[in-house]
Amino acid sequence: MGNEYILEMSGISKSFSSVKVLHEVDFRIKRGEVHALMGENGAGKSTLIKILTGIYSRDGGTILFDGEEIHLSNALESQKIGISTIYQEISLVGQLSVAENIYIGREIKRHGVIDWRAINQKSKELLESLGLDIDVTKPLNSYGTAIQQMAAIARSVLIEAKLVIMDEATSSLDDDEVKVLFDIIRKLKAKGIAVLFISHRLPEIFEITDRVTVLKDGYLVGEYRTADLTRKELVSKMIGHDAENIVGAERKYRDVESEEYLRVQDIRSGIKLRGIDLTIRRGEIVGLAGLLGAGRTEFARVIFGIDRKDRGEIWIDGKPVEFKLPAYAIEHGLAFCSEDRKVEGIIPNLTIAENISIANMKKVSRFGVINQAKQRAVAEEYIKKIRIRTTGTEQKIKNLSGGNQQKVILARWLSMKPDFIILDEPTRGIDVGAKKEIEDLIRKISGQGISVLLISSEFEELIRNCDRVEVLRDGKNAGSLVGEQITENNIMSLIANGKVETGGEQSA
Ligand SMILES: Nc1ncnc2c1ncn2[C@@H]1O[C@H](COP(=O)(O)OP(=O)(O)OP(=O)(O)O)[C@@H](O)[C@H]1O
Ligand SMILES: [Mg+2]
Repeated sequence: MGNEYILEMSGISKSFSSVKVLHEVDFRIKRGEVHALMGENGAGKSTLIKILTGIYSRDGGTILFDGEEIHLSNALESQKIGISTIYQEISLVGQLSVAENIYIGREIKRHGVIDWRAINQKSKELLESLGLDIDVTKPLNSYGTAIQQMAAIARSVLIEAKLVIMDEATSSLDDDEVKVLFDIIRKLKAKGIAVLFISHRLPEIFEITDRVTVLKDGYLVGEYRTADLTRKELVSKMIGHDAENIVGAERKYRDVESEEYLRVQDIRSGIKLRGIDLTIRRGEIVGLAGLLGAGRTEFARVIFGIDRKDRGEIWIDGKPVEFKLPAYAIEHGLAFCSEDRKVEGIIPNLTIAENISIANMKKVSRFGVINQAKQRAVAEEYIKKIRIRTTGTEQKIKNLSGGNQQKVILARWLSMKPDFIILDEPTRGIDVGAKKEIEDLIRKISGQGISVLLISSEFEELIRNCDRVEVLRDGKNAGSLVGEQITENNIMSLIANGKVETGGEQSA
């Protein structure tokens, strides 16, 4: 039967310990289309996908895939019928070569022996057909996240997937890498493969998807052609009310003239940091822009005492400092909200309250005894402030949606009331509404005199919030932008050419 839809999920319901998180949701994807699944943090997107791929069981509803009803009980079965899932965390084996990863479980044999030459050759051809020319015999983990993801995609082409699912696959990619990924998505589409795409970055949705399904609080809001929606319309469907003050809010320039708080000079470390300078005033929000590998995170890690520097000087309030351990930096009033919540962030089996207070035991304990009431009160304050979607302070963090886990980590560092906070991609994986609230909070704390170093790959986030933007390129300063100079164009040309274009629209 020539069914137009590759996937038809109808009436899907799911509860976790009596909390219903999906309410009779219908979700359909056409063959060969790129379909976005949108909704706020905790709306139920990942849960719906996990039900589709057999990771979670469903309480009700039916699933038709390629015209046939399916009941999957694990992820492997979903692969077998042609569903391939690219997670944000790579699910391949880093130590094996790229080619081995692509062909794992489907080795080509000759006279009963694995034919490595053929595997390498075929892998190379496959990646080339996706526009990627790399050495496939090198271990996968010698390449960056983007290429690892491409290998996962190549594998899904090989296993003849009919549907490729990308749940926030772009969140740790930079602009150039996203371009490569989008080229590949277009090629998959041309081969008739459908792509289910989840991202909190609206420009990506409008660039790459044909249709959108919106979920809110576990209910289906509707199914739309992307081209029929404006950004504002999409956002208001996601949040359930007018998006006027979320999309397109005007930026107010501030001239911060308070005294200098931090001065960093000529920081060098290995080949990544090759001489970086930075100053931040009290209450100033300074953005750090650059491509992946430009040295932004590495630089932050050196300031915070996680990594050593080979050279360079750091002063706080005019006094030279050197933190041998993050604990000393924290004592000195510094906070560092890391981009990598999986590694440096959450402690899965602890509660939300415990995860928030973990870096701040002094505040919630006396003589080494934890005051649980205080711990809960702090957690409650932040659950309200940044709308963490949870059943309560005692819920385990591992049961929160991805974006809500991120909010807990942010609450941890904000609740310390530091003098200086480094925020590395603080709104990665965070929905538009919550992003606005977090950005408001960042500006609010800066108004209270807290200095902020904001590392972000999203230009719009830098433009909306920063008093100054410092652009890094190959481990060095490429240039600095203040006030009205902070435009997408200027940031981009500093990243690309190390200088700001003159002439054209650049009038004083
Ligand atoms: N294993 C679990 N146990 C209990 N509750 C869960 C579990 N997994 C998800 N939930 C809850 O289900 C709801 C939907 O979560 P889900 O992860 O599907 O959201 P999402 O739309 O993917 O959000 P995000 O944009 O933050 O990734 C949330 O309230 C979450 O706390
Ligand atoms: Mg999710």
